[in-house]
Amino acid sequence: MIQVRDLTKHYSHHGRRVAALERVSLRIDEGTIFGIIGRSGAGKSTLIRCLNLLERPDSGEVRIGDDALTAYSERQLQQRRQRIGMVFQHFNLLRSRTVAANVRFPLELAGELDAAQMDARVDELLALVGLQDHQHKRPAQLSGGQKQRVGIARALANRPDVLLCDEATSALDPETTDSILALLADINRQLRLTIVLITHDMRVIRQLCDEVAVLDHGRVVEQGRVIDVLLQPQHAVTQSLLAETGLVQGALQGQWRERIGTPVLKLTFVGEPALQPVLDKVGREAGLRVNLLAGTLSEIKATPFGQLLAGVVASDVAVSALPDIFAREGVRCEVL
Ligand SMILES: Nc1ncnc2c1ncn2[C@@H]1O[C@H](COP(=O)(O)OP(=O)(O)OP(=O)(O)O)[C@@H](O)[C@H]1O
Ligand SMILES: [Mg+2]
Repeated sequence: MIQVRDLTKHYSHHGRRVAALERVSLRIDEGTIFGIIGRSGAGKSTLIRCLNLLERPDSGEVRIGDDALTAYSERQLQQRRQRIGMVFQHFNLLRSRTVAANVRFPLELAGELDAAQMDARVDELLALVGLQDHQHKRPAQLSGGQKQRVGIARALANRPDVLLCDEATSALDPETTDSILALLADINRQLRLTIVLITHDMRVIRQLCDEVAVLDHGRVVEQGRVIDVLLQPQHAVTQSLLAETGLVQGALQGQWRERIGTPVLKLTFVGEPALQPVLDKVGREAGLRVNLLAGTLSEIKATPFGQLLAGVVASDVAVSALPDIFAREGVRCEVL
């Protein structure tokens, strides 16, 4: 659906060149929810603004569907952008217009529907985001979550094939964030809409996204399926972003290693094995004595996963044989 090739963008600031994007390449399949994560200043907003050419890259190519946007004129872009929805961190609603009139605005700009058709479409959109009862209010009379629902309804007005979200939940509290993420998941399912969202919050990636790219200093340093990247992060930036989510980390601090005094296993359970007594089964087979150090059970999108750190003494097998034994039970085992 979206193909980005070798996208590069520099800014000049007081005569200094700042590299915001360096040869970024991405492939985003139709119907997926694709997350882009990175620290502040990594280039996330620049990248998402290059996807609809609000920002002109210095070089590289952006294609959405069959449209090579980087070869388009400004006029052609204006047309195409009507079917690329965008949701903003601070909502960007028109203060003097009611909720319904905000949602109607892009329909008026597109000029394809008559008044009655626009009203009907607005009703449909307000129902989709659950705001029918608020249509006559102005933005100042809404909560943050409600404002973002208006922003989402407005972005969907012209039936886009792509929805771009720039930190759509960063201004919201955790509970409201959950409800907006659920709405986006719903929209993705119902409309088979491709969603690209940028965030600095790993929780958003974990709850909502199918695929993720990690951006650092304008470069993609890691990308893949969320379940793979979250459970086996390769890059230091990914690992430090993950450390904030409470997932078990790969390494134990040196002082703990010495005090534990046995080999330590990191066990990763994905899907059904996360809910089965695998450790007990293998423990009996291999004569393990287990010292549980840390653990978590959670889910990535709808897939359950668990991670455990455990010190072990094995009386019936060599510790080096344990990864294969756990693998037979569908569990990844690393000896740290
Ligand atoms: N208009 C501009 N002029 C000069 N430099 C800019 C401009 N816009 C962005 N930059 C620089 O480009 C880099 C990437 O900025 P960008 O806004 O894309 O980061 P970001 O990942 O979205 O950060 P945040 O999480 O804080 O929103 C930063 O170093 C920033 O200072
Ligand atoms: Mg930004």
